[in-house]
Amino acid sequence: MSTATLKNAAPFVPEHKTMPLLREAIQNCRGCDLYRNATQAVFGEIRPGSKATTSQKAEIMMIGEQPGDQEDKQGHPFVGPAGKLLDKCLLQAELDRRKIYVTNAVKHFRWEPRGKLRIHKKPGMREIKACRPWLDAELETVRPKLLVCLGATAAQSILGSKFRITESHGRLQTIQGLPPVVATLHPSAILRAQSDEDRKKSTELFLNDLQKVKQYLEK
Ligand code: URA
Ligand code: SF4
Repeated sequence: MSTATLKNAAPFVPEHKTMPLLREAIQNCRGCDLYRNATQAVFGEIRPGSKATTSQKAEIMMIGEQPGDQEDKQGHPFVGPAGKLLDKCLLQAELDRRKIYVTNAVKHFRWEPRGKLRIHKKPGMREIKACRPWLDAELETVRPKLLVCLGATAAQSILGSKFRITESHGRLQTIQGLPPVVATLHPSAILRAQSDEDRKKSTELFLNDLQKVKQYLEK
């Protein structure tokens, strides 16, 4: 096998896994080519805006797709429009943000230029796989009780390419070696809705799944 097919983040993940060490090390990751055109790697963190103390443990790990334009510039996950919507929905579902660690399946922003704009480009299976060692390092360090995949990219990374959110969203999935997993929509699916009706439907679906997340956690 050539080394090209093996290229991934594993050689860049420190053996001794603490949050500060991981955070530092990921800035030197060359596990795929996405670092070349991004400002910085965006690692996961406990939801900002909460008054989390160091003693607080995250019970839920929410996994998005990849940083967007704002996240790439600011260095924090879900701080742009999708993040604002996520926060609003978490509040509505009464999910305690101090217990939620938010991250992404892919840690660098993939984009294409369009004029002066940087347009989001979906990460491919290659990047999702290459970046998985960072997600594993987060899982090992955070040790959440429940994983929540937001959208198809996160679901692909954790549940495999055959998993369909439209069919199995909101249902508890069991994967060996991982905490229980629930997949639901990505909040940007709500932002992209083409009509009011569409928006209403996807919002309801999302909030309903977040309710289930809350119930699973209370069990
Ligand atoms: N969308 C994501 O999937 N992740 C972010 O951090 C921001 C937008
Ligand atoms: Fe490394 Fe992931 Fe960034 Fe690729 S996207 S360079 S694997 S951190």
